[in-house]
Amino acid sequence: MTDAPVDPTGTSAWARLASLAEGFSPDLREWFDRDPGRTERLTFTAGDLLVDLSKSLVDDDVLAALLDLADEVGLAARREAMFAGERINVTEDRAVLHTALRLPADAPADRRPRVDGQDVLADVHEVLGRVYAFAERVRSGEWTGATGERVRTVVNIGIGGSDLGPVMAYEALAAYRQEGLACRFISNIDPTDAATTLAGLDPATTLFVVSSKTFGTLETLTNARLCKQWLLDGLRGLDGGLDEDAAVARHFVAVSTALDKVADFGIDPENAFGFWDWVGGRYSLDSAIGTSLVVAIGPERFAELLAGFHAMDEHFRTAETARNVPVLMGLLNVWYTDLLGAQTHAVLPYSQLLHRFPAYLQQLTMESNGKGVRWDGTPVTTDTGEVFWGEPGTNGQHAFYQLIHQGTRLVPADFIAFANPAYPLQDGENDVHELFLANFLAQTRALAFGKTADEVRAEGTEESVVPARVFTGNRPTASIMAPDLTPAVLGQLVALYEHITFTQGVVWGIDSFDQWGVELGKQLAQQVGPAIAGDADALGEQDPSTRSLIAYYRENRRR
Ligand code: F6P
Repeated sequence: MTDAPVDPTGTSAWARLASLAEGFSPDLREWFDRDPGRTERLTFTAGDLLVDLSKSLVDDDVLAALLDLADEVGLAARREAMFAGERINVTEDRAVLHTALRLPADAPADRRPRVDGQDVLADVHEVLGRVYAFAERVRSGEWTGATGERVRTVVNIGIGGSDLGPVMAYEALAAYRQEGLACRFISNIDPTDAATTLAGLDPATTLFVVSSKTFGTLETLTNARLCKQWLLDGLRGLDGGLDEDAAVARHFVAVSTALDKVADFGIDPENAFGFWDWVGGRYSLDSAIGTSLVVAIGPERFAELLAGFHAMDEHFRTAETARNVPVLMGLLNVWYTDLLGAQTHAVLPYSQLLHRFPAYLQQLTMESNGKGVRWDGTPVTTDTGEVFWGEPGTNGQHAFYQLIHQGTRLVPADFIAFANPAYPLQDGENDVHELFLANFLAQTRALAFGKTADEVRAEGTEESVVPARVFTGNRPTASIMAPDLTPAVLGQLVALYEHITFTQGVVWGIDSFDQWGVELGKQLAQQVGPAIAGDADALGEQDPSTRSLIAYYRENRRR
């Protein structure tokens, strides 16, 4: 689908939004006072998620114009094209079918996407079955290492989408892990990462999953070689000598779309799990890239995660626009970014288990929508891709919330919380989860409604410090709640943000599925490498600043 994108700024909805934004002076206190139905009208459900958008900076006119904008840019048609397997990733000429990874095997014929005429669902479930069987063997102890011992630690080696999703979900689903079987993750080419992650591990009980869509990523292949060396060095002292190939076969499996390169690396293709070019790296948690997670939580729980993704896909595909949560949240982000001037967006989980969720979302949102040209190669017509960031509450409250409450910048924020704690604990009479949730509720309330000068004065505050203690309020938040952080709910949350990202990308007319912006740095790193190592010609090709930094490095490197 390569139709020229619609310029959102040329639509009649945009003209309405621009005039609504002019002199826009939101007053959430007043809006709530005047309109007792606001909360109910702006609270939605999607799967198991309850999403309260009533503390957003929108009134009915803005909302109506945003919904019209979605129509005018053709959101529904592009969404349909994605689900159908059309090649909407135009700069790489690829279909975009992460939604097929979570379709049930018995999905009806009209829901089975085709790529080049091929029904992809059979392939998806064939690989899933192999991943599940492998995971069961590891979990049961049937899969043993070179010494016959069972696996105790699975180390995923990958970076970007081949790391962030598995780590985030492994942390989030800690309560579902099998005891006695841990995962660790190596991503960075900083040798510290491999060194510290491997420290204390027993090679005889360690299994590596080399995860790389392309199997050409410098960081991952370097780390995989380091781990291979570590494994062979560690096993060499064993009685009876070491059959290196056999040891690698027992201790290394791979996940990739490039199975030929997996074989070249020395990993038995029998122990490789494939996926396809129509799965973007940052959309691949629910492909075989999740293998380490499947080992940790088991196939049954992973299937629940996939079902959660699918539930949100169905909501996104079928819910009417006015009640479609990813569409609404994506449109609100456009309103904040392009019409109200927000540059960042905070994601604040009130769940320690989601402590890697913001980092995961950074790749999803910023690698997808940080683009300056549209899918037809023309420049974008408005700002794109806000900076996503965040930390779990309550830690963030004692760090950066000051700026969100009283700073000069508009920072829309998503708050995420669960009715049930993963670990219910009492502090004397106090249910600690309730103390935690009180903070979640207090923060969204303070941000929305603030504190006036009169309210500050009424507390007996000295006049000179009244201004410093005023909270303007009208700082927008979305509150997302679910009963528990289950695998299914995690799948729904991730898919929610995937589709928010998609919605924004369509409005902006960009290809949210390529990532050319990471390539130049990779190329230059190859060029700079020899210069660092002392190659005079390569050094001569560098700019003066880079030459000076290399000189500093060479003078100071001691070990
Ligand atoms: O450099 C960016 C990127 O291509 C991401 O999109 C991807 O998730 C990551 O690198 C890792 O790539 P691979 O899985 O091919 O090793």
